[in-house]
Amino acid sequence: MESLADAAAVASRACELWRRQARASVAARGVFRAALSGGRTPALLFERLAAAALPWKSTELFWVDERYVPHGHAESNFALARELLLGRVPIPEAQVHPMPTGSGEPARDAAAYEALLRTVFAGRSWPGFDLCLLGLGEDGHTASLFPGGPELVEKRRWVLATRSPKGVADRLSLSIPALVRSGLCLFLACGTEKSAAFKAALGRPAGPASPARLVWSAAARGVFLLDKQAAGGIPPGQGAGWAGFLS
Ligand code: 6PG
Repeated sequence: MESLADAAAVASRACELWRRQARASVAARGVFRAALSGGRTPALLFERLAAAALPWKSTELFWVDERYVPHGHAESNFALARELLLGRVPIPEAQVHPMPTGSGEPARDAAAYEALLRTVFAGRSWPGFDLCLLGLGEDGHTASLFPGGPELVEKRRWVLATRSPKGVADRLSLSIPALVRSGLCLFLACGTEKSAAFKAALGRPAGPASPARLVWSAAARGVFLLDKQAAGGIPPGQGAGWAGFLS
């Protein structure tokens, strides 16, 4: 967990971690598979990634979640990435896999995306993304996994149709088991309004586990990058002694 000076520093650090993970994955297996979240927070990171020297020819991009709107819609997570990143980097189009939102039935499109992932990760019991980029909602949601939702106890499916209490109601989302085996779950959170959700993700105060806590606590490897507002006062730099801070 790292508390950084501001959103720009969070984006720069996230870009560095992405670069390291991409280079290690390509060196080890010839491919780097990353899944993207949406929302406002990743925008600065997408701009950093577009300007960085990265192995795009060996990169495959997927999505952690999507709002159930056409891909040209202002609320579409794919549209955000296409505008700030995809149109600026030499990633082959065949290696970009947006979540489908065109059948009119979220559950059908969720199943279709799961079928795609099962071909990409053939022979595996769960997908093995090299990096999943995750945000944090004020209510403790992450991906499109929301507090109290049935999706929080999913044990079998990789991709789910979920319902958001705010904004675009119908969503598609990777499930918790599909997320937590990633090579790196990279959480980004900026702004004072995320501070309580961040502390809840760490289990403070005790209470029903938020979706972010369920993912963070089960992640094979998780990193939380926060600006000082979201970190709630921990000085910039490595946030040592978090338990003491959060007691
Ligand atoms: C989405 C995201 C969602 C997001 C959080 C934080 O589709 O909305 O995947 O999980 O990461 O809601 O959103 P902001 O970055 O806009 O605060």
